[in-house]
Amino acid sequence: QAFFKPIQNCDPPSSTKRHNKISVIGVGNVGMAIAQTILTQDLADELALVDAKSDKLRGEMLDLQHAAAFLPRTKINASVDYSVTAGSDLCIVTAGARQNPGESRLNLLQRNVALFSNIIPPLAKYSPDSILLIVSNPVDVLTYVSWKLSGFPSNRVIGSGTNLDSSRFRFLIADHLDVNAQDVQAFIVGEHGDSSVALWSSISIGGVPVLSFLKNQQIAYEKQTLENIHKAVVESAYEVISLKGYTSWAIGYSVANLARSLLRDQRKIHPVSVLAKGFYGIDGGEVFLSLPAQLGRGGVLGVTNIHLTDEEVQRLRKSAETILEFQSQLGL
Ligand code: NAI
Ligand code: LAC
Repeated sequence: QAFFKPIQNCDPPSSTKRHNKISVIGVGNVGMAIAQTILTQDLADELALVDAKSDKLRGEMLDLQHAAAFLPRTKINASVDYSVTAGSDLCIVTAGARQNPGESRLNLLQRNVALFSNIIPPLAKYSPDSILLIVSNPVDVLTYVSWKLSGFPSNRVIGSGTNLDSSRFRFLIADHLDVNAQDVQAFIVGEHGDSSVALWSSISIGGVPVLSFLKNQQIAYEKQTLENIHKAVVESAYEVISLKGYTSWAIGYSVANLARSLLRDQRKIHPVSVLAKGFYGIDGGEVFLSLPAQLGRGGVLGVTNIHLTDEEVQRLRKSAETILEFQSQLGL
């Protein structure tokens, strides 16, 4: 006796809604912050988890499955075998070593590049049409490595980049000006790291350029105040890592924000790590770094032609040189 009976004259049962499958590689602090945000925001019909530690992996899967009564229906699987990721639309990679207190992201390069040679090829094999979203650090170099290892076109290999730094930037500006961070349009570009670049000249609050906003609000404009805000952004991760040992919640929301733009074809502009060669005179080599890019179902749909001052262009080129210097050690 079927539990459900079809109504009269209906189509045969079929899923008419597009099926979104996301795989998260690495179920540590960051991977799980991303996974639970994807579930809470109903961004996937199917979530696959992969990690090298099988017990932790199964434990995290069961723990998420047990929340099913409180979440939108999502099929959750986990395995150390990459076949569990087959047919993914989006593969998010967070596996790898994280910084110790005071350690730079670039310092993780040798440890994490070695892992990627075992992670990226199976992801590409099982999901040849997916978008790769790289989070592990140093994220810009590892996005380049993923592009090389996967053989994917560059529009489908993206690093989370300075989407997180720009959120921190918007928070600090909003806090300084007592406005809502969502009304602050501000980009940090370049390396997701110590050489990132704040685009002061293009910041606006509710559509009003920041310098005019300050003048209208009779808020003193000292260049040093703005530089101090960018400095605070660069130091954010070091401070949080020194206090709680790692960062996770902000990156979780940042990556879910990107996943929504990609899978729901939002065509929103995000500062993410893209193949930057040829933009703003960056021509020292194939380098990934963050530029304001339009994201949709096809991945990177284009890079915005945002105006940069001469100083901002110089800082961006310096950031590219910093990344390329580390990247050249790889011989890829
Ligand atoms: P974690 O140590 O909590 O988790 C790392 C996970 O990777 C562990 O579960 C480990 O078992 C797994 N793993 C290691 N080798 C693996 C392999 N070969 N295959 C599959 N899984 C493997 O570290 P956490 O805090 O989650 O950070 C992960 C990475 O994310 C780090 O590189 C960190 O720097 C980076 N990160 C990047 C951010 C960004 O804005 N791009 C922000 C925060 C962290
Ligand atoms: C961050 C580091 C960990 O939270 O990449 O920005």
